[in-house]
Amino acid sequence: MKIILAKSAGFCFGVDRAVKKAYEYSNLKNIYTLGPIIHNQQVVDDLNRNGIKVMESVEDIHTIVDGTLIIRSHGISQEVYNNAEVKFNKVLDATCPFVKRIHRIVKEHSKKDYRILIVGNKDHPEVAGIMGWSYSNPMVINSVEEANNLDIEVNNKICVVAQTTFNTNKFEEIVEIVRKKVYDVIVFNTICSATNQRQSEALQIAKKVNKMIVIGGRHSSNTQKLYEICKNECQNTYHIETVNDIDFKEFKPDDIVGITAGASTPNNIIEEVIFKMTHNDHDNENSFEKLLEESL
Ligand code: F3S
Repeated sequence: MKIILAKSAGFCFGVDRAVKKAYEYSNLKNIYTLGPIIHNQQVVDDLNRNGIKVMESVEDIHTIVDGTLIIRSHGISQEVYNNAEVKFNKVLDATCPFVKRIHRIVKEHSKKDYRILIVGNKDHPEVAGIMGWSYSNPMVINSVEEANNLDIEVNNKICVVAQTTFNTNKFEEIVEIVRKKVYDVIVFNTICSATNQRQSEALQIAKKVNKMIVIGGRHSSNTQKLYEICKNECQNTYHIETVNDIDFKEFKPDDIVGITAGASTPNNIIEEVIFKMTHNDHDNENSFEKLLEESL
């Protein structure tokens, strides 16, 4: 079996930074993250064993004194941030700098009377956080259809930003529609290049292989997008969370298998998948290190 491993598989810069910060401070007493630090249950469980608990809301703090809160890479709204600073002894902000930049754009432009239009999924915590940095009521759209139905006047001032994991082509299509509706539009393409690289590399690999594995949390939106992209190109695409989800009967010795992983997937999970896929591979052609060296 030949395995092609995507170089961009696994933790992105922002997630890596947040997870490292969590481990670094795990010796503190009463340490919490606001929501799971990443969409990966194995990492969340391991952090829990290291004393880091998940809190769903800053209001949950009531009984705890001297608590420390870690803000995950998705970021939070200004109001939640302010509440956290009041309720916690210490707030460690691990918001990804690329998300922080969106907060600054939204704050600055809404102050100048631009109505904020966020292109992304309104139910995603990153988008909820971004919304909370606007001084006026922001709009959130996710599709070309919603862009066509947007209720805005030609003389409105609109500032457009994107959720960092949004699809670039879809974003450009939506922006074109908005530009036709109003004169004064400022557009910030805030899609993260890590997402673009991961998606385009996955697409290239999916074109070359007969089976594709996408590793990542079921609730991770960037993993779901990767899966869709690969499935479009390679019918035999499997979304797995861990090695336990693989049905090994589906794989044959002459298969060429592509592997990629979402931004919240740690290396050890990717390594384990490769190890189990190739445990009969005596010449060790598919070792994790060798595949990393050879990856695109
Ligand atoms: Fe940041 Fe991009 Fe990752 S925005 S959290 S580096 S996908």
